[in-house]
Amino acid sequence: MPETRIWGETIRKLWFTETEKFRDHLLRLDRESRRMRFGMLVDDAFVHKYAERTGQFQSVIYGSFAGREMHAAAELRMIGDSWHGDAEAAFSVEREYQDSGVGTELLGKIILAARNRGVDRLYMNCLSENRKMQRIAKKYEADLFFDHGEVVGQLKPSVPTPLSLWSEALDNSNGFVMAVLDFPLLQRFNSAA
Ligand SMILES: CC(C)(COP(=O)(O)OP(=O)(O)OC[C@H]1O[C@@H](n2cnc3c(N)ncnc32)[C@H](O)[C@@H]1OP(=O)(O)O)[C@@H](O)C(=O)NCCC(=O)NCCS
Repeated sequence: MPETRIWGETIRKLWFTETEKFRDHLLRLDRESRRMRFGMLVDDAFVHKYAERTGQFQSVIYGSFAGREMHAAAELRMIGDSWHGDAEAAFSVEREYQDSGVGTELLGKIILAARNRGVDRLYMNCLSENRKMQRIAKKYEADLFFDHGEVVGQLKPSVPTPLSLWSEALDNSNGFVMAVLDFPLLQRFNSAA
């Protein structure tokens, strides 16, 4: 599937050089959304450390952009030391962009990425009061169950096919073009031209 646009949004994968976009987005989450995202109240120092460590975990991160600003993210992280097993996903949409379908689109991207990496089971943990997250997990037919006061969504991605691999590759190439256009040097060149 080519890049997704919702009301002028572009959804693309983040490059490893763009961790600060992920960090700044997480820092902008309002108190309640941040609590829902991390399952507890966390301070800015926690968010800084969390974003810094994403590189170590080889996470796949998708961002949703309006222009240069990223205001939603989805993270796919392996559990253990290989993608061929379990993986977990987490989502965050800044308050003013919630309820417009971004979270649903992001979950679709994460399922595709998990599928293409041979992930066996994909988990999504959320607080039991998080009805929106449960709603979008249900849209993709995830099984939901309670575990220690949280709701865990579990789904089994299908096996990769040439079409699913091609679909992600196409996303990557479109995302690369958008990332390059967003590169600061190119921005300066464009405004000087
Ligand atoms: C949970 C979250 C990722 C969902 O993203 P989103 O872009 O708001 O979600 P969408 O707009 O794609 O879908 C929301 C769905 O929940 C439904 N919904 C909204 N409020 C609801 C409620 N109180 N109860 C049940 N369903 C609700 C919407 O109607 C929509 O379903 P529909 O498409 O069938 O109408 C986002 O709200 C968010 O970032 N919240 C804070 C962080 C968080 O909770 N992360 C998840 C844990 S990792």
